[in-house]
Amino acid sequence: MHQLLCVVVLLISAVPFCNGNQSANVYKDTRIVGGFDADIRELPYQVSLQYFNQHFCGGSLITTSFVLSAAHCFPSGSNSNPLWYSVKVGGNSTKDNDGIRVDMCSVKVHENYNSSTIDNDISIIKLCSNLTLSSTVQTIVLAQRKIYVAGNLAIVSGWGYEAENGNVSSNLKAALVPMTTKQYCQKAYSSMINITNNMICAGFEEGGKDACQGDSGGPLVCNNMLIGIVSFGSGCARKDYPGVYTNVANYIKWIQNNSDYQPLNNSTKDIPLQWFLILLVSLIIASFHS
Ligand code: ARG
Repeated sequence: MHQLLCVVVLLISAVPFCNGNQSANVYKDTRIVGGFDADIRELPYQVSLQYFNQHFCGGSLITTSFVLSAAHCFPSGSNSNPLWYSVKVGGNSTKDNDGIRVDMCSVKVHENYNSSTIDNDISIIKLCSNLTLSSTVQTIVLAQRKIYVAGNLAIVSGWGYEAENGNVSSNLKAALVPMTTKQYCQKAYSSMINITNNMICAGFEEGGKDACQGDSGGPLVCNNMLIGIVSFGSGCARKDYPGVYTNVANYIKWIQNNSDYQPLNNSTKDIPLQWFLILLVSLIIASFHS
């Protein structure tokens, strides 16, 4: 009976929470900030926010007409003049040679965003037209709870700086970064800022891979679900300073109230295998008892 339980526990714990949940060491190649060249078909939810047709922040497509981004991307808040902004979707570059440019109709910056604590660093952009989904334009589902454990690798992407004090990248880049514990992150930033429950962190202890200036507002994805929004960091990819991301799961209601996003009605939808295994085990145990 005990052996059986052990096998079961092993089985359940072996179910990965994040895609690419290999040992983080496998990915310790010494790539600079920004990681590897990515193709928009692999990250079709990634968008570029543009100000007078110049990239300034990333974002994630959550429905055919709403984009999720960071509050700090819009220093003048919800009053930002939408005429000056557009959103580029479906492109590998931020230039007009590929992808589609759509007008921004309005922006909603979180009412409790605080630029000194960087708490509630989230915003929602309404597009003026409804996008047609394709291989290069897709929406992403939001994680409604914590779907990772420390060490799981998540993928961050964008057109930001390829090194601290570097240049913006004209082609889409991505990097795999391990999620950290809250304690590790709090300790890392203890002299600078309070890491709240609305923040999650990712990065190697030795640094080397991270989001950077220009990646803000962009996606941190785990198990094909959006878990974070690029928010801030001390420099980029520095040793012992993980990247800090807005904890998307804490804002599902807010997002629902400010867009046409429909959350999964079943919050366990992302862990069917675990539930299946638990059910199976219960049945086995029950049959042993009868
Ligand atoms: N705040 C920066 C921006 O506006 C991005 C910060 C991300 N930094 C980091 N080290 N993860 O683009």
